Amino acid sequence: MRRTNTCGELAEKQIGKKVCLQGWVSTRRDHGPLIFIDLRDRYGFTQVVFNQKISEETHGLAKALGKEFVVEIEGKVSKRPKGTENKKVKTGNIEIEASKLKILNSAEQPLPVEIDSHLLAGEDVRLKYRYLDLRRPEMQKNFVLRHRLIKAVRDFFDKENFIEIETPVLAKSTPEGSRDYLVPSRMFPGKFFALPQSPQQFKQLLMVSGFDRYFQIVRCFRDEDLRADRQPEFTQLDLEMSFIEPEDIYDLLERCLKEVFKKVLGVEIKIPFPRITFDNAMNFYGSDKPDTRFELKFVDLTKELADTEFEIFNSIIKKGGCLKAIVAQKPNFSKKDLSDFLDAAKAFRAKGLVALEVKGNSLESQIAKFLKPSHVKAVLEKTGAKENDLILLIADEWRTCCTALGAVRLKAAEKLGLIDKKKFSFLWIAEFPLFEFSEEEQKLVAMHHPFTSPADSDADLLETSPLKAKSKAYDCVLNGSEIGGGSIRIHRRELQARMFKALGISEEEAEKKFGHMLTAFKYGAPPHGGIAFGIDRLAAIMCGADSIREVIAFPKNKSCFSLMDDSPSEVSQKQLKELKLKIDLEK
Ligand code: AMO
Repeated sequence: MRRTNTCGELAEKQIGKKVCLQGWVSTRRDHGPLIFIDLRDRYGFTQVVFNQKISEETHGLAKALGKEFVVEIEGKVSKRPKGTENKKVKTGNIEIEASKLKILNSAEQPLPVEIDSHLLAGEDVRLKYRYLDLRRPEMQKNFVLRHRLIKAVRDFFDKENFIEIETPVLAKSTPEGSRDYLVPSRMFPGKFFALPQSPQQFKQLLMVSGFDRYFQIVRCFRDEDLRADRQPEFTQLDLEMSFIEPEDIYDLLERCLKEVFKKVLGVEIKIPFPRITFDNAMNFYGSDKPDTRFELKFVDLTKELADTEFEIFNSIIKKGGCLKAIVAQKPNFSKKDLSDFLDAAKAFRAKGLVALEVKGNSLESQIAKFLKPSHVKAVLEKTGAKENDLILLIADEWRTCCTALGAVRLKAAEKLGLIDKKKFSFLWIAEFPLFEFSEEEQKLVAMHHPFTSPADSDADLLETSPLKAKSKAYDCVLNGSEIGGGSIRIHRRELQARMFKALGISEEEAEKKFGHMLTAFKYGAPPHGGIAFGIDRLAAIMCGADSIREVIAFPKNKSCFSLMDDSPSEVSQKQLKELKLKIDLEK
């Protein structure tokens, strides 16, 4: 290797050393007899000076350098003249006096993506020229962090006696609630593999095999609508253990995250994490993934406002609905802010949002005329609202009321500047319902997945009132993002069969889809449970990125298209023929 050093390491103690550096031209400044470039590689920047007096030929060559040319320079490390040092970079006290320059490759100008600029290209351009976008030091930092995160995770689980076992990518469909990506089989025309939405069934089968402590850093595939924190293929830290309780999972993952945050970011996080039930998460934050970097908790005012003259409240309460509020302390909300809050509430199907401002002993509001002094007193007492505070209230059916106010809570916190971007606020959510009713499918679906165990006391509800049954599922939440989810599983064949039945899966269908699981459970399946963490989500939060696309080397765009290689794309007739497939697109 000709390269003696990287661009990020030379300092005063190497002054006088003859070096050879290779890298990219970040900037070039032509000062007549002196030409300066900043040479960049993964490790940093080094200033190189081409002095006409030292080498006329090299100086002449340097005139032709453009941004992102790849070059090799030979020269001597020298101290920068007094006053020209750059304190911001490690190599800022030295420069290389170049005696030789070799252009290893040129770069077409202008580049579609600026590498060392604060002006960021639009995301589509960044994704099309992703290899250039990834050359940006900010992106390289993200990927170094991601690497360290995965390394720290692997080291932790190795120490804890887990073994990493790879599971198939060509597999049978696993129901995690999304659509599958399908892969046609050439050997079995008309049949398809499904790319796994997660290794859920395999890891349970590994428990049946007696592996006891399994983990895997694994790619999962889900054909779902994309968002900032969703990609069609993403990476999980997936794990499963035998003979455990939820507490064992909490303890293990808390210790893992503590070690990872310390090693990767040098940040101490406090464990154990707070734990709340799903019902309380909804009741107090309006979300099953609440952002607890700030308080702004809900106050329930159903009782306090049970007998006003306001017909809308009365009819909602009569139907079993509720009234919940948040208190914004002395806010400076504009009309536009309030209308944004209303839009946020409406997006979750709330019909309205009531604002009540504390003025002396009364509440100024569009509904003030319906409130008696006793109502005002009760509201002030329960909320603790003070002069000029604003109470934002939603009345609706329970779930709508919670989720809509949850959306308002997030918007209001942002406007009030309550979100500390440097904070890491973890918590566990537990006691999820076992089922939910899918409006789209008009049937019961598993809230987590069909292998999740009901709470011990609730197994009998499977046949009588399934929607009342709680599960042994848990989620880990960080700063309002669901970073992990798992459960204790069903490990007995009879209970698993009852679960399928409750989900409306016939015995025949259960046998066809999950016969291998039911059969495996016949041969001594141990009690087991596990969890999976979204590595991309965790990495994005640790990097301070807004989207997981910032920590995935070659992500799809929001329409699930890869702009860099134009995939998905058509395939040849020959390929289709081998698969015995014909394309007949429905209009
Ligand atoms: P779940 O479906 O909750 O559980 O997924 C686990 C975690 O994976 C991440 N995640 C995603 N990240 C990016 N893009 C996506 N499309 C995406 N979907 C999910 C989230 C989520 O918390 N087999 C179960 C785990 C178990 O029960 O052990 C499962 O996959 O951070």
